[in-house]
Amino acid sequence: MPKKKSYYITTPIYYPSAKLHIGHTYCTTIADSLARFHRLRGDDVFFLTGSDEHGQKIQRAAEAKGMRPIEYVDGIVILFKELWKKLNISNDDFIRTTEARHEKVVQDLMRRSYDNGDIYKSEYEGWYCTPCETFWPENKLPDGEHVCPDCGRPLELVKEESYFLRMNKYADKWLKFIEENPDFIQPESRRNEMIAFVKSGLEDLSVSRTSFDWGIKVPWDQKHVVYVWFDALANYLTAAGYFDDPEKFKKFWPADLHLVGKEIVRFHTIIWPIMLMSCGLPLPKKVFGHGWLIVDGTKMSKSLGNVVDPIPLIERYGADALRYYLLKEVRLGQDGNFSLTTFINRINSDLANDLGNLLQRTLAMVEKYEKGVVAGPTVKAPLDDELASLAVTTAREYEAYMDDMKIDDALNVTWGLIRRSNKYIDETMPWVLAKDAAQQGRLETVLYNLLEALRIIAVLVSPVVPLSAAEMWRQLGLDDFAAVRLAAVQVWGQYPAGTHIAKGDALFPRYDLAEEVTESKPEETAVELVPAAKEPIKPEITIDRFSETDLRIGTVLACEKMPKTAKLLKLQVDLGSEKRQIVSGIAKYYKPEDLIGHQVIVVTNLKPAKLCGVESYGMLLAASDGNDNLQVVFVDGMAAGSRVR
Ligand code: ME8
Ligand code: MG
Repeated sequence: MPKKKSYYITTPIYYPSAKLHIGHTYCTTIADSLARFHRLRGDDVFFLTGSDEHGQKIQRAAEAKGMRPIEYVDGIVILFKELWKKLNISNDDFIRTTEARHEKVVQDLMRRSYDNGDIYKSEYEGWYCTPCETFWPENKLPDGEHVCPDCGRPLELVKEESYFLRMNKYADKWLKFIEENPDFIQPESRRNEMIAFVKSGLEDLSVSRTSFDWGIKVPWDQKHVVYVWFDALANYLTAAGYFDDPEKFKKFWPADLHLVGKEIVRFHTIIWPIMLMSCGLPLPKKVFGHGWLIVDGTKMSKSLGNVVDPIPLIERYGADALRYYLLKEVRLGQDGNFSLTTFINRINSDLANDLGNLLQRTLAMVEKYEKGVVAGPTVKAPLDDELASLAVTTAREYEAYMDDMKIDDALNVTWGLIRRSNKYIDETMPWVLAKDAAQQGRLETVLYNLLEALRIIAVLVSPVVPLSAAEMWRQLGLDDFAAVRLAAVQVWGQYPAGTHIAKGDALFPRYDLAEEVTESKPEETAVELVPAAKEPIKPEITIDRFSETDLRIGTVLACEKMPKTAKLLKLQVDLGSEKRQIVSGIAKYYKPEDLIGHQVIVVTNLKPAKLCGVESYGMLLAASDGNDNLQVVFVDGMAAGSRVR
């Protein structure tokens, strides 16, 4: 027996600071379908997800609720686990960074770097984005701007004693590694960004904090807690058994794939590898940065209201439908738009009409014409070979696509086979064959071929729609689905002749689009507010000082996304007396069409700044709660140029 290939795949560990939304669901669904594919292939899979529970952001969120941090995270982690269960996520472990097994690992890594001389004590003085838990030294910020270059939210000034990791020492080694491992950072655009970032000069990284205490203690200096990203990244080692299971660790480390959102690629491809280099540990094989899922907020579900919450979506449409939609609709690496209309249309066309119907029609005919049992194929026709060879090619192409993480392509070829099989029914017309006793052999052959195609299809769709696939298998009269491997569907003719089918309910119901989708927004009361992170009120100023700020109403005349950044929008704003160009870090929250034609509040006498090489003359006012919510202040109906004071 050849040795089984091991496959270690991870999602990010999520912050329990806010409710998980459909964007988190997206990342975990991708990872789950890849994990399931590798199991199908016969690989020895270890699939990890979890929660990132330390740090200032969590401490503040807990304080805002008047809770101890551990009580606060305990409650939210239960909700995480419930969501993953509802979505049929097949993770092999769930790591919490507050677990004792993790603390030991983080302290060991700190100790190793320290003993190597890679960690030294100094003072951090600079800016910090608490929602992103990111240090931003002044020289990484555009002139005079104290907003986070990643998320656009206000930064806080931090001055505290801190231990630093000598990142800069490893810059050349890192560049050499990237050159020798061109596939390490995917997609390629992200790799180029990261190379540019490192070439522009790596700062040593602050890896401990002293201004709060919710974290893992630095082993040799109890005044310090380990920086939350150093802590979080180490989770991948902890779960692989770094400390307590050397055999497991040997099998699974280095990880095969860290799947992460594009905004945290930098942490995973620069900080993480350098931490590992410093500790003398092997680096993971690949980090893939997926895009963001943007929610089309103009169309709402009549029965559910806000579709950002995945739980009601799963409850109404089923986990499989949501999983299929997320994987089919968005090409991995690119941003995608979640829209309820396209979701319902996909369910109706791809799942109910194509897949569900093929099973339903086939089994109905097997019952009606053959009393539920089909003998083997006896009377063949050229059409059959065409179907058989398409099935085999599809199963092979599918494997290559999934192996290359091209999940949407894998689904496309699979649906090609599903549609071809439906066409085969129309071409062979079993209902005509059934009327002629002389065609009995041909009829059974046709039905057998359809059952065989369905057997193959059930296996191919199983990583994406696992529940429906298992139900297909059962209705086909087959058993032990969990033991089936991909190799078994890469040859034609394996459906056991003489099997008694077990026809059941339709796999996917159809929905009436007009009944599901409404254009109007739900009542505001339907939205549950997450408490804002506590930020101290700034020191008192005089009214004169305030009046120095010139605030005006502006009408957004034009707005577009900026190339090469997912964060920024470029706006042309009419201020009554003049027109201005403003660059704003709100692309994650608004599409250009959400802003055009609206009245906003503009800080007009702000010193111009350059953002990603584009001049910005002023700033829009927006509210942010320090979690992940941001809203531009709209003052629709006020004339451009009106003063705000
Ligand atoms: O970053 N579309 O946690 P997190 C797609 N704790 N993905 C989205 C998304 C969206 N709309 N919104 C969020 C952290 N995500 C750290 C990770 S790992 C050692 C530590 C994804 O809770 C996002 O891209 O802020 C990221 O990959 C993940 O959710 C984690 O979010
Ligand atoms: Mg985040």
